[in-house]
Amino acid sequence: MIDIGEPVIKKDHADKMSGAEPYLADLYREDILHCRLIRSPHPRARVIEKRLPQLPEGYTAVDCHDVPGKNSVPLGNGDIPVFVEDTVEYIGDPVMLLMGPDADVVERLCSEAEIVYEQLEPLLDMQQSDISFYSHEYTKGDAAAAFAGADIVYDEVFSTGYQEQGYLEPQGMMGEYRGGRLYIQGSIQCPYYVHSAVVLATGMDSANISVKQNATGGGFGGKEEWPSIVAAQVAVAALKAGGRPVRLIYGRREDMEYTSKRHPSRCRYKVAIKDGRVSAMDIDVRYDAGAYSTLSNVVLMRGIIGSCGVYNIENLHVRGCAVKTNTVPNGAFRGFGGPQTFISVEVVMEHIAKQLGREPLEFKSAHLARQGDATSTNGKYHFPVPLPAMIEAVDSMSSYREKRRLYSAPQSGRYRKGIGISLWFHGAGFTGSGERDIIKAVVKLRKSADGQVEILAANTDMGQGIKTTFCKIVANELGLPFESILIRNPDTDCVPDSGPTVASRSIMVVGELLRKASVRLKEHWQEGMEQIVEERYKHPDYLIPFDVNTFKGDAYPTYSWAVCAVELRIDTLTGSHDILGAWGSFDVGTPIDRHIVTGQMEGGLMQGLGYASMEQMFATNGRIRNNSYSDYIIPAALDIPELKVHLYVEEYPEGPYGAKGAGELPTVGAPAAYIEAVEQALGGALLNHIPFTAEDTIDALQGGK
Ligand code: MTE
Ligand code: MOS
Repeated sequence: MIDIGEPVIKKDHADKMSGAEPYLADLYREDILHCRLIRSPHPRARVIEKRLPQLPEGYTAVDCHDVPGKNSVPLGNGDIPVFVEDTVEYIGDPVMLLMGPDADVVERLCSEAEIVYEQLEPLLDMQQSDISFYSHEYTKGDAAAAFAGADIVYDEVFSTGYQEQGYLEPQGMMGEYRGGRLYIQGSIQCPYYVHSAVVLATGMDSANISVKQNATGGGFGGKEEWPSIVAAQVAVAALKAGGRPVRLIYGRREDMEYTSKRHPSRCRYKVAIKDGRVSAMDIDVRYDAGAYSTLSNVVLMRGIIGSCGVYNIENLHVRGCAVKTNTVPNGAFRGFGGPQTFISVEVVMEHIAKQLGREPLEFKSAHLARQGDATSTNGKYHFPVPLPAMIEAVDSMSSYREKRRLYSAPQSGRYRKGIGISLWFHGAGFTGSGERDIIKAVVKLRKSADGQVEILAANTDMGQGIKTTFCKIVANELGLPFESILIRNPDTDCVPDSGPTVASRSIMVVGELLRKASVRLKEHWQEGMEQIVEERYKHPDYLIPFDVNTFKGDAYPTYSWAVCAVELRIDTLTGSHDILGAWGSFDVGTPIDRHIVTGQMEGGLMQGLGYASMEQMFATNGRIRNNSYSDYIIPAALDIPELKVHLYVEEYPEGPYGAKGAGELPTVGAPAAYIEAVEQALGGALLNHIPFTAEDTIDALQGGK
């Protein structure tokens, strides 16, 4: 038996490590036209007049009047315009685009353009917003009765801030109109989302539009929505460019200031306790969606579905809304709404335990969901919940219990230590029946006459390694060498729509389709013939159908699980915190490549810890203040602590070789372990916001906030 998890050299390793792989900015074309956007300086205003300087020959302006199709990007409720028409909704909203052969001249012309606005009253505070893009409410059991019969009711509000995806490569897209067809390429997660956006904006026949993914320097959800906007703008510009290629690449500051981030949140938890156990939760979740609806609906849904964490809570009343503000639109980000509610519920459970005089891990363990239990939405945990064994694995790697006891003794002195632990899951794949009803994934395998096999799927490799893992699956099933399997960056002219590269679905869903296609190709293999095998998604039949109106049924086909302990030391003089170690046990089913999965877990943990500790982003009067990596600090090499990853394998029968979703899992729950550790180091403070920075530590030590 081949060990599918045995690491191999990644398909894209040599080209990326040597620098040979061209990114969008590396593509040289003599006739290229450089694009730049003129953006709103106001959070909300009416556009009165656009006064342009005299444009030199070869320089062109593009705005809403040039959009031949619909001036709308197909995301959320369609409220994002390709170019603003009457009103701007946030600082950075694109009013028009200028393009020309010399990028410096384009920049100068943009600064000379004078857009006349009439300023309108903006909505800047999500607490004050009365415009909900989306709101949902659901119940399980009888929360009202449980609260009426409760011994004690806890009430706490937890809030979280922005997080920037921090991909290495900023947003960028290139377009060219040639021979009646429009060719779009760029840094993207979801070629077919971009394709739909270009079709809508141009009104062209979809067969005349080709969208190709270029090497993508990270996405983390940030290239799920935004490339559709950039591509629509570039497509409109390309149609006006007389056949010359046009390229729009965001500067770093522009990217940080004006593109989607993780939704800031405020979550209120009321928890009923009866006989020392949680009998009900009443949860109110509010996400700041920013100026446009984007994917806030699905982000919010994932957030509220996971809001009672890994616990079996019999009575629930959950409300959630994603509200509009005139600030940067927020959107998809690794974890997709999960991190906000998972940190809230984990910290709330910790606080309740402390106030009941119980040991937090023991208190949490007493409430864990088990196989067969109902989920928050009255679906079912169909498969084993391996958390107890994973807790033991983390305890033995980290000596969590021992250190927890040790650090609970009063600490004086300059340096003080703490350790925390958190438990979480990530629903693998799309929420509800999206995979069956909306995505309807298709993959193909093409065998050439000389026996070369090529994978045809729309999924993109943005660092998470699917070029490699897809090829491993196909090679393994066909009994061919891994090196011989061909996979290219997807181009909608060549690959079927196997769905977007989101929700950690690629291996579990698309990988399984490729495995099945390989089985059939092997069965029907004919020497010397070109053959194409196609495979289509089928929904697992064990699922309880999910109803999006009532939030009843299986929200996810299965779950990936995680436990993580974080140990840290705070410096009471400077407030700084050194993370001493992070130890995680992760169940993503069978790892298709242990190096890749371990890398995903390590990177994801650090992204979660950055979110909790140092990644602080402010907006003043609607303007993002931290628009560079010198004032928005993310973990760098020297911040990496002792990091240990343990892979627990609970095989999922519907995934390839037992694999489930992996990519987003590690980011989701790490923040709670960090907060719990800080609380212990601070001698039992009860904290209720992230990021919790050095300044916050000083405040807490001085008995302030
Ligand atoms: N890992 C790297 N290196 N770069 C990325 O952009 N994106 C994450 C995760 N891991 C990302 C990453 C996100 S948000 C998702 S949804 C998954 O990868 C998507 O890939 P998968 O479906 O192959 O897990
Ligand atoms: Mo990931 S946030 O689903 O791209």
